[in-house]
Amino acid sequence: MSFMVIQDLKVHYPVRGGIFNQVVDYVYAVDGVSMEFESGKAYGLVGESGCGKSTTGKAIVGLEKITSGRVIYEGINVTNKRNNRKSTFNREVQMIFQDAHSSLNPRKRVRDIIAEPIHNFLKLSPKEEERKICELLEIVGMPEDVKYKYPHEFSGGQKQRLGIARAIATNPKLIIADEPVSALDISVQAQILNFMKDIQNEFGLSYLFISHDLGVVKHMCDYISIMYKGRFVETGTKFDIYNNPQHIYTKRLLSAIPQVTPIGRERRKRERIKVENDYREQYKNYFDEKERVLDLIPITSTHNVAALPKGVI
Ligand SMILES: Nc1ncnc2c1ncn2[C@@H]1O[C@H](COP(=O)(O)OP(=O)(O)OP(=O)(O)O)[C@@H](O)[C@H]1O
Ligand SMILES: [Mg+2]
Repeated sequence: MSFMVIQDLKVHYPVRGGIFNQVVDYVYAVDGVSMEFESGKAYGLVGESGCGKSTTGKAIVGLEKITSGRVIYEGINVTNKRNNRKSTFNREVQMIFQDAHSSLNPRKRVRDIIAEPIHNFLKLSPKEEERKICELLEIVGMPEDVKYKYPHEFSGGQKQRLGIARAIATNPKLIIADEPVSALDISVQAQILNFMKDIQNEFGLSYLFISHDLGVVKHMCDYISIMYKGRFVETGTKFDIYNNPQHIYTKRLLSAIPQVTPIGRERRKRERIKVENDYREQYKNYFDEKERVLDLIPITSTHNVAALPKGVI
């Protein structure tokens, strides 16, 4: 059973121009995406820069205005209620960002940064609140005495841990993580990813994990959506996407994953040449005349591909 359903989400930004600064066009940043979230599962959203991943995440939590579509949370249409700061939705759906630094108020001490969501959503006595803050710091592996420090006194990985402490303060069901590790060194990335997996298991969290890195998403996610120009080209389980990709764009993305061994690199090079040929030949099966991604069609109970039926079967 899914606890949250996103139906046909669209975010179109007006482009103004001309001498009267009128609306002359739209950027179709998100152009009709649907998703369902189950408890304890991690969903990956992958695609190249500018395809609409962050806009999708921000639109779901209400940081970006939705042009059309619906957000259904626990069976209730919350689309127009997500700015109610005390709502269950706002408590249970949290977001963390790539740049942990800018999402932590530089003028506040760690203690107050973490206390803010606790104040907003939980009714705790001062003593209980202090205990909760210490507990959260312990979960994210930070010593208690960091409470009185300011964000600039921490490394990138530590700041991301603080961002996570703040995000889990209100016992969320879903964390939307927008490129949470892409600003970090590789070794720190692995630590944070493993830590995110640990807390997922411990608290039964769900993730919407946004990344341009197919390796990271494979490591983290149960279900994956591949996004291109504001639409999903393919959605499925990790197995569907990595072992049985159908959309030409998905194949193209997968063929660009760097290989470590010389043999792997050679094989990848040949695959890439083939995929590029297929892409040119089969383009019309996967996009309409305006280069818009076609509607998704199911090919199994978990796997959907945006293509003409003859392009798939
Ligand atoms: N406020 C805005 N006004 C107009 N266009 C916008 C606005 N915000 C985003 N866009 C455009 O919407 C599209 C999607 O942007 P978005 O930030 O969601 O992409 P992304 O997939 O997160 O990219 P990246 O991987 O680089 O973070 C882009 O073409 C971007 O230029
Ligand atoms: Mg982004």
